[in-house]
Amino acid sequence: MSKFKRTLVTTALPYANGPVHIGHLAGVYVPADIYVRYLRMKGEDILHIGGSDEHGVPITLKARNEGVTPQDIVDKYHNLIKDSFEKFGITFDVYSRTSSEMHHKTASEFFKKLYDNGAFIEKETDQYYDEEAGQFLADRYITGTCPQCNSAGAYGDQCESCGTSLNATDLINPKSMVSGSTPVMKKTKHWYLPLDQHQEFLEKWILKDHKEWKPNVYGQCKSWLDLGLQPRAVSRDLNWGVPVPLDGAEGKVLYVWFDAPIGYISATRELTDDWEKYWKDPETRLIHFIGKDNIVFHCIVFPSMLKAEGSFNLPDNVPANEFLNLEGDKISTSRNWAVWLHEYLDDFKDKQDVLRYVLTANAPETKDNDFTWRDFQARNNNELVAILGNFVNRAVVLTHKYYDGEVPLMGETDPFDIETLEAIPALVTRIESNLDQFKFREAVREAMNLARLGNKYLADTEPWKLKKTNPERVKTILNISLQITANLALVMEPFLPFTAKKMRDMLAMDEMNWGECGKTELLRAAHKINEGQLLFEKIEDEKIQEQLDRLAQTKISNETDNKEAAPAKEDIAFDDFTKMDMRVGTILEAEKVAKTKKLLKIKVDTGIDKRTVVSGIAEFFEPETIVGQQVCILVNLAPRKIRGIESQGMILMAEDADGRLDFVAPGSKIKPGSEIR
Ligand code: 2FM
Ligand code: ZN
Repeated sequence: MSKFKRTLVTTALPYANGPVHIGHLAGVYVPADIYVRYLRMKGEDILHIGGSDEHGVPITLKARNEGVTPQDIVDKYHNLIKDSFEKFGITFDVYSRTSSEMHHKTASEFFKKLYDNGAFIEKETDQYYDEEAGQFLADRYITGTCPQCNSAGAYGDQCESCGTSLNATDLINPKSMVSGSTPVMKKTKHWYLPLDQHQEFLEKWILKDHKEWKPNVYGQCKSWLDLGLQPRAVSRDLNWGVPVPLDGAEGKVLYVWFDAPIGYISATRELTDDWEKYWKDPETRLIHFIGKDNIVFHCIVFPSMLKAEGSFNLPDNVPANEFLNLEGDKISTSRNWAVWLHEYLDDFKDKQDVLRYVLTANAPETKDNDFTWRDFQARNNNELVAILGNFVNRAVVLTHKYYDGEVPLMGETDPFDIETLEAIPALVTRIESNLDQFKFREAVREAMNLARLGNKYLADTEPWKLKKTNPERVKTILNISLQITANLALVMEPFLPFTAKKMRDMLAMDEMNWGECGKTELLRAAHKINEGQLLFEKIEDEKIQEQLDRLAQTKISNETDNKEAAPAKEDIAFDDFTKMDMRVGTILEAEKVAKTKKLLKIKVDTGIDKRTVVSGIAEFFEPETIVGQQVCILVNLAPRKIRGIESQGMILMAEDADGRLDFVAPGSKIKPGSEIR
């Protein structure tokens, strides 16, 4: 028996600065909804808490760009997101938002309690400040040249070319992404959560006591812990967010990642006066559904906050998913590379369950996965239509045809009937055990196996051939087929709620709880069922082609889109330019640098010598394809060690606004060593 009496499920609060897409559904909301529907059917005491994350710098920047207030932005997207979730049947007990009064009060009190407990350290640091925009700059909003690999366009928190994490102060030639100006240093005071002081506790709590967490989650936590935790600032200089509730903290707000998870608490508080029971009673189980980019915040930062507060439960599990890609490319809001839920609802009317099904059957549970429109079509046509829809339709139509819509009395059974009947509870057990372990892909596969079982049973027994010769046998077959259908109506409810409802209507069944699943007398003899309804319809090629065309169009416009070029750098003297010794070189050899995604070790004939250069281009070029490529190489750059390899120079690359890299090379073959000036 579990030691828990109730469950509190939270789903990551999506940022209210854009609509939600299939990646959100697949990663977080569909699995969470399956889980909460399942527990509700089991009659458990469960709450599903959600809402919009309405703070943070990107929202302020979007507002600035559009000439509206941050509140305008979040109002618009909060409503759009909430509506999309509702239409997809994601059932929240409360869907709140972090700009609400209750949230400001709750987050403020939480901070104050930690402050009073002495849970923070205060530090004064130098931070970049944009004098033109009149604001301090979050690391993400400063770009410059990476001190490690020399790529331009590194962000203040990370260089995406070589993967190094950075501090904004490390960047060479920093520029504000807000105004394009060169930021200046200014002193500012902030409060930090000293995660290093929680390291020992977290190591035991996660690495020893939660070995059952999904390997992707456990592994990511272990990497963070192995690296050693550092204090993290929990406040920012910004005028949008929850104000830091201390004297002398004017112009400072709580860091969005500090206040957002407290949003789960505020929303529960908004829902019920009994909220503390769900957060503080050790008999409540807390589960966070999130995507992989949120792991550190939900497994390390938020638990440290809760622990420091002292009266809250820590999560029992954090079943985070990996990412869903779209047609082989990372989903990206800025590149409009996504299937937006509100658009899907327009294009595929009443087909919410089809998307729920495809995203579950192909969920990125253990690794990143790809959504393709062809797979979507195939799963609809070959699985939902051909297996589930076909079976249910045959059972219902035959019942009307032979028995005027009345469930026939079960007659004699033969061993094949018994075998089929026995397979039903066995499948239900497998569905349950997968659901209990957050293995939703496998669970839905087993649920479909129940429909497969029904199809095979009808195909093998062929009742339509026996109607005249053996009418008693046909009664048994149809009774069993209807019991399978009734079981499908139950087990499909968490996965395909709209379809399950149609099935219950067809069978004139009441809502039942999960405990009934697996029983083989769900429909009594003589019970009258309703007319059949279409559950799924074939999706034609044209419909899929429309979607593919739209994506192709997006690709083209992304490529031709004149994204703003990076702002110009300060003038330099001619002498500075001539200090650089740039030559034409030819690549002789190239290989991946072990354990890195981005780095290639390249041997270049510079005309002067043959030397090794480490370059962050592995995502764009396979090593074997660049041998013979002519390049432009800076040969007098002081050698640096990158991943233990001495890099002697730098290959110049052109980088577009999306970060795509290409070689800068002479227009025709030219002798290595030729000077570039
Ligand atoms: O990654 C995101 O979209 C964040 N807005 C998730 C926040 S989850 C929680 F902490 F609120
Ligand atoms: Zn770099």
